[in-house]
This record gives sequence, C-alpha cells and structure tokens, in this order.
Amino acid sequence: MPSAEVATLLEFLRFPSISTDPAHRADVARCAGWLVAQLTASGLKATLHPPAGHPVVTARNAHQPGRRTVMIYGHYDVQPVDPLELWTSPPFEPRIENDIVFARGSTDNKGQILAHILGIAATLREKGELPVNLIVLVEGEEEVGSAHLEEFLLTHREELRCDLIAISDTGMVARGVPTFTYGLRGIGALELRVTGPATDLHSGIYGGAVANPATAVARLVASLHDTDGRVAVPGFYDGVAPLETWEREAWARLPFGDAEILAVTGAPALFGEAGYTSLERTWARPTAEVNGLGGGFQGTGTKTVLPREAFAKLTFRLVPGQEPGDVMAKVRAHLSAKCPPGVRLEITGGHAGEPYVTDPNSPGGLAAQRALRTAFPGKDVALIREGGSIPIVNTFKKVLGVESLLLGLALPDCRAHAPNENFPLENFHAGIRLNRALLEELASVG
Ligand code: BES
Ligand code: MN
Repeated sequence: MPSAEVATLLEFLRFPSISTDPAHRADVARCAGWLVAQLTASGLKATLHPPAGHPVVTARNAHQPGRRTVMIYGHYDVQPVDPLELWTSPPFEPRIENDIVFARGSTDNKGQILAHILGIAATLREKGELPVNLIVLVEGEEEVGSAHLEEFLLTHREELRCDLIAISDTGMVARGVPTFTYGLRGIGALELRVTGPATDLHSGIYGGAVANPATAVARLVASLHDTDGRVAVPGFYDGVAPLETWEREAWARLPFGDAEILAVTGAPALFGEAGYTSLERTWARPTAEVNGLGGGFQGTGTKTVLPREAFAKLTFRLVPGQEPGDVMAKVRAHLSAKCPPGVRLEITGGHAGEPYVTDPNSPGGLAAQRALRTAFPGKDVALIREGGSIPIVNTFKKVLGVESLLLGLALPDCRAHAPNENFPLENFHAGIRLNRALLEELASVG
C-alpha cells in the first residue's frame, strides 16, 4: 500500500494534461480542478483562474504584515508521450518499480510541485500555520512557453507581490546531491515549411526538373552549423557572456561530466562546440537544435515520390547576453538567405523565453542552500546552471521584480520529455522535507 502522499502523487499523474494537444484540453482543465481541491484541502485559499489559454491555479494562506512573502511556482502540464510504443507501461497509468514512479510528468513537474504542496499541507497540519506569507502559482502552459502567464502576472500584480520565488523544476547533478541552479538558458522556437510543386510528383517523371522541398529543408538545416559544431548564423554569438573562471573550475569538480553524459544518453560519442566541456556547452553556450524533421514518404519500403512539402521544427537555446527577438531575427534572415532556388520558404515563429542568471550567494540563495543541506543531510550543495529553460523565470524578475531560487529534484536519467519518464520516491520525500526547511529558512531572510 502506498502512503497517502504517494497515493496523491499517483492520482495527479493520472491526468493526461498535455498542454500542446487540443484533444487534451478538458484533461488539462480537470487536472487544474483537482489541484484546486488539493490546495483547498491543505488549508489554503485556492482559486482557478479561467484561461486565456489553460487555467492558472493560485493559492495562499492568510497573509500577516511583517512576514516574508514567498511564491512557489510550478506547472501541472506535461509534454506529449510519443513515441508511445517505447514506454514500458502506459504513460498515464503510473507504475512504481524499485521505489521509482514511472509516468509522464512524474519528474517534470508534477512530482516536484506536489512535494511542495504536500510539504505545505504537512506544516499546516502540524503547526496550524506557515512561517511565511505564501503564494502558490501552478500553471498549465509551461511546456508550451507560458504564453499567457505574463499577461496574468500583469493583471494580478498586486496579489502576486512577493519577496522571493522558489521553483523545483530543474535537475540534480546526481542522485543524493542537493543542487542549486543559478542560471537557465533561454529559448527561441520556429518552424520552417518549404513548399514546391502543387502536388506530390512522380520522382522519375519530374525529378531533375523541379526542386525537391525535402532537399531544400535538409540544406537549410545543414546551414545552421559549421563542421565544428558552432552555430553558423551570422551574429548568433554577438553579446554572449563568457563563462566565469570560478564556474568553469567549480563545474570541472562536479560528480557529473562527460562519462555520465555518455552513459545516460547512450550516444556513441559526445559532440559539441570546440573549446568547451559538455557541461559548459549545455549550461553556458547557445545552441541550435532540430526537434523535428519531416516530409515525403515515411512508410515501409520505397516510394518514388517528389514531395510537395517538407518541414523542420527548430529551437535555439540562448544564454545571458542574447535577446530572443534579436537572435530569432538573425536566424530568419539566415534561413531566408540560405533557401535554395525553386521552392517557397515559410517561417512561423514559436514561443520564446529569456535566459536567466542569479547570484547563488545572495541572502535568498544562501537560505536555499541551507534548506537543501537540511533536506539532504551531510551533503555539499552543487552550484550549477542548466541547459533547460523556464521562460517565466526572467518574466518574474521583470514584472514582479523578484529573483527565483531554483531547487530542482530531477535526476539525469529522469527521462523528462522522453519515454519512461520517472521520479524516485526518495526525491519526492526529499522535496517534501525541502519545502518545510525552505519556508523556515526564507522566513528570516533579510
Ligand atoms: N523543467 C523543464 C526545464 C528544465 C529542464 C530546466 C531541465 C532545467 C533542466 C521545463 O519543464 C521545460 O521542459 N521547459 C521547456 C520550455 C520550453 C517548452 C519553452 C524546455 O526547456 O524545453
Ligand atoms: Mn519540461
């Protein structure tokens, strides 16, 4: 029999709250409703804010003057599950094996945000109150770029006024190693579509006389990098902040590096921009990635066709010193210039988010590090940046004027966004302890 806390986690994981898929709109909304009920049962005043996109859920305790106000942010939406056939068990029927729960969203982000909520509930149950004024904000659009959340922050600025934000939606460098993340990469997304003839054509009858859209997409994709792994878009690296010496040294000492990345990814070799280690490449250098590529015959066997269209889905990870609007304009100009003749190129912009970096040794950062040591007794805290993005973090800073403390519990092999996503119950329980220690520590931060 799972504990009550684990049973609650399993309930949360059963909602297929895939934000990008219109077919799951009602599931996303039901999941938000479930959260409101959970938060209310914990003793908070919870509100479901009807969507411009998917619902935002907020909750608060009774605020008292003179106390610190802390916001806990997380997301209840999840990524799509494909390729479904590579899951060992169905993604929304959580399975526990060796004290690890397998389900879409288990790590990213349901397990982590629920640990906070259950930590709060436990403190309220035992003590009748919290040491801080609390605001919980759980959104349903993080995995699609938080498009409507900035507007929400603007219209609810007064109620959301706070001193610090804590977020558990990043990683730990290794099992049992408490990790404080002081930087995130930003992101810019776009989709390119190349069209040619009015219909698919017989590639024997017309091949040679008509340009092939799939070839054009391949050329465009290939034009993004030079052979050394550097992004070949003119001006892409303009303004990129160099790594600090202290961070290069600190990262070189972490118990996670090339060998672990090779093992956890299963790639035949590591590859990236010359002159940087893998951690530096992923945490502090900007990149261009192809997330999806298509066009033409995808079935078994051969089919001699010249496809009428082809596409690529691209995202660019950005670092401090880069501005998404500026970089994406340069990318568009580059792609337009590189498009071969005989086809039409359409570029559609996607979500964008700014990079973030904060001082790990600010009073809040130090308090967060103390809380991590309490939750993981006897362990040194690793100070890292991350390659992933949480676009709203920099918006929190701009709109609310508040820094975010990133105290993530995702392990390198959590398989976020991939088949068999999983979250160890050990981390779930650590997250509950972490919330309790964190609110205590933040209550007295100057
Ligand atoms: N939890 C991740 C972000 C993350 C992952 C940070 C790993 C640090 C380490 C978040 O849910 C996420 O996946 N964000 C997206 C944002 C995008 C869809 C706008 C990402 O990074 O791809
Ligand atoms: Mn994610």
